Amino acid sequence: MDLMKAIFTRRSIRQYTTQLVTKEELATIIHAGQAGAPSGGSYDLYRFTVITRPELVRQFANTYHAPAVIVISVQTDQLRHSKYVSAGTMVENMALAAENIGIGACMNMSALPEIPPRIIPEGQPPLICLTLGHCDEVLAPREVPTNRILTNFID
Ligand SMILES: Cc1cc2nc3c(=O)[nH]c(=O)nc-3n(C[C@H](O)[C@H](O)[C@H](O)COP(=O)(O)O)c2cc1C
Repeated sequence: MDLMKAIFTRRSIRQYTTQLVTKEELATIIHAGQAGAPSGGSYDLYRFTVITRPELVRQFANTYHAPAVIVISVQTDQLRHSKYVSAGTMVENMALAAENIGIGACMNMSALPEIPPRIIPEGQPPLICLTLGHCDEVLAPREVPTNRILTNFID
């Protein structure tokens, strides 16, 4: 899919079918996340935890029964803005890659407190997660107003 088309077609999907996300689909999405840009090139601080175990994903109340959830966490004792921004680059890449292969996705912070600490490496707080699954809707590019986010030009 053309990049601009993917950008304008992507939207938060919160209703998933029961179809599972395959290992190959997850690998494609995770690979795109690997291309995200962490502050200072510190890739080794970040961790993706991919949760597909049915009895685990079923426990989450805030993930819309998505069959797969990817959690981005970071090894740190000081959560700075740059860590969240870095995770944002990774999760947006993953969301676009999901869109590109016809998988619905939704970025999610409200589910973070539900993630059992035992499945995330110690000392690596989760920053954001991405819920993933198939959806019944056929998505079309959206009309996005060019002034939706007020933009100041300093010429
Ligand atoms: C940092 C961040 C956190 C978010 N957390 C949640 C969340 O906890 N639950 C949820 O349903 N959507 C969450 N979203 C999705 C936003 O609500 C959604 O992107 C916004 O409503 C715009 O809709 P769109 O993605 O369809 O364009 C989050 C998005 C971002 C960027």
